[in-house]
Amino acid sequence: MKSPIGIFDSGVGGTSIWKEINRLLPNEDTIYLADSKNAPYGEKPKEEILHLSIKNTEFLLEKGCKLIVVACNTATTNAIDYLREHYDVPFIGIEPAIKPAALQTKTKKVGVLATKGTLASSLFHNTSKLHASGIKVFEKEGHGLVELIEAGQLHSPETKKLLQDYLNPMVEAGIDCLVLGCTHYPYLIPLLQEMLPTNINIIDSGEAVARQAKTVLVKNDLLNDGNPPFTHQFFTNKDVSILNKFADITRASFLDF
Ligand code: DGL
Repeated sequence: MKSPIGIFDSGVGGTSIWKEINRLLPNEDTIYLADSKNAPYGEKPKEEILHLSIKNTEFLLEKGCKLIVVACNTATTNAIDYLREHYDVPFIGIEPAIKPAALQTKTKKVGVLATKGTLASSLFHNTSKLHASGIKVFEKEGHGLVELIEAGQLHSPETKKLLQDYLNPMVEAGIDCLVLGCTHYPYLIPLLQEMLPTNINIIDSGEAVARQAKTVLVKNDLLNDGNPPFTHQFFTNKDVSILNKFADITRASFLDF
């Protein structure tokens, strides 16, 4: 099916997922929507996250998307059940990778850095209870990190200071896995690798999301059967130049939504 895959996030963070999807499914057209004007979602009440997720979904459906990737842990954990119930296309979501971390940890101590909205959600709690029994999970809200990443501050002293404040206690407590529970945070991996002891594995779910998208496309007979060129459209309601930088391309468009 020639229609595009739709991908949305509260901002530029979901481009980390877009890259994984494009790597695994290079013959697919995509449309990426960055709702940066409304970032961070993680500090908003559930009803507002739901309202914004509906708006983003309807935008992508109007563009004819055949599958929607909710490239945002906060939107997934607060809105994906509703979206799946109310729209006909398949949805792929992203949640903090507690299960792989629980399987990998040797110290039985795992850290999760995510937004307030994700950590407060019942979906996160249920996943954590299901997969991390017998494991000590250190949860930390990453207040301020999404704003810094949206401003392109991936390596600034301020970003480093916040990460130290958030992570030092769990590092001292002996975690050996750190789950990045927000699609913005993979952009901090170079800084995290400098800061963290080398025995700590940094885990994110981007690749798993792309694999799941492929599985669902195959199962529903939705893979692109059209010919190249394959097109990638990027829309933002804030700063086009920032989105271009994160997406490594130069074709984002401004959209007032
Ligand atoms: N990328 C979003 C996530 O994965 C960031 C949420 C926010 O805007 O606070 O949760």
